[in-house]
Amino acid sequence: MSDLEALREKYLAQIRAAEDEAAIEKVRIAALGKKGEISRRMRTLGKMSPEERRTVGAALNALRDEIDAAIRARREALADAALAKRLEEEWFDVTLPARPRPQGTVHPVSQVTEEIVAIFAELGFSVAEGPQIESDWYNFDALNIPPHHPARQEFDTFYMHRAEGDDRPPHVLRTHTSPVQIRAMEAHGAPIRIIAPGRVYRSDYDQTHTPMFHQVEGLAIDRDVSMANLKWTLEEFCRAFFEVDHVELRFRASHFPFTEPSAEVDIRCSWQGRQLKVGEGEDWMEILGSGMVHPAVLKAGGIDPEEWQGFAFGLGIDRLAMLKYGIPDLRSFFESDLRWLRHYGFAALDIPTLHGGLGR
Ligand code: PHE
Repeated sequence: MSDLEALREKYLAQIRAAEDEAAIEKVRIAALGKKGEISRRMRTLGKMSPEERRTVGAALNALRDEIDAAIRARREALADAALAKRLEEEWFDVTLPARPRPQGTVHPVSQVTEEIVAIFAELGFSVAEGPQIESDWYNFDALNIPPHHPARQEFDTFYMHRAEGDDRPPHVLRTHTSPVQIRAMEAHGAPIRIIAPGRVYRSDYDQTHTPMFHQVEGLAIDRDVSMANLKWTLEEFCRAFFEVDHVELRFRASHFPFTEPSAEVDIRCSWQGRQLKVGEGEDWMEILGSGMVHPAVLKAGGIDPEEWQGFAFGLGIDRLAMLKYGIPDLRSFFESDLRWLRHYGFAALDIPTLHGGLGR
């Protein structure tokens, strides 16, 4: 019997020592497999006397069952340990933020455009659009600027090529957003109250001029609209935009073929060194052109000037961005310098609203 006891000790020790499924299987085959040690012992029972067979057989059966149970238990323990290890390794902190902060920023021109649209929306203006490649008619003729009018020279226009032999006037990159006035009048008639933000193009380049820049056109037509409404609207806009009670505006008599009378508006500011500040100092920056819509322009848009009148203005978006956020050089807006964009850009979720404030 003591040699069965030795077998028992040996296999139970091996089972305890087995560290994985393969090791366990090896022990099982060595002990209980067809040619295993216990199985071989079982086969010797036949040669024994009946009494011996009874006692040895019972002991062998008990030993086989015990080893079998020990193997199963060890297998389960190993599987549990493996699962526990995996759970430990794959644990993660669900309280960490789901995503890193977005890397990109919103360009000041985009931000300021949104601010302007939000303010004019409160004043009852809706947004209109037109193409950046514009016909000669919409950009000039319909705005009371016939061919050979001197005002055409003032615009430094970029012309598109026509095919050889095509004598029609060339298309232009629109020099201002004013052609959207005509398109909006044609589409909606009177009364109307729209703004039209977008890109415009002129061949010009210095600290306050780039060949592509942004304007927002405003147009309000009704039966009883006056210069006083224009002035109030622009002052109201500037107060909301600069978020101050007092900004100093200067209305200068001017001339545009498409308005009569016309006024240009400057805003008080200071440039000290590389610092640009609004509302103080001895400098003035021109921010917009405006006036009462010329009767010829109303007619070109299909509106009867005997019945309707209106005001219009064209604001420089980029210049408003420079003034509000103290950005001294317009050219830097379009150089795509990442350091500049990170410094002057806005967080993606910092969307302008009147109640939340417009900027930062
Ligand atoms: N279109 C003019 C410009 O770009 C501005 C303007 C718009 C003036 C509307 C009067 C009325 O200079």
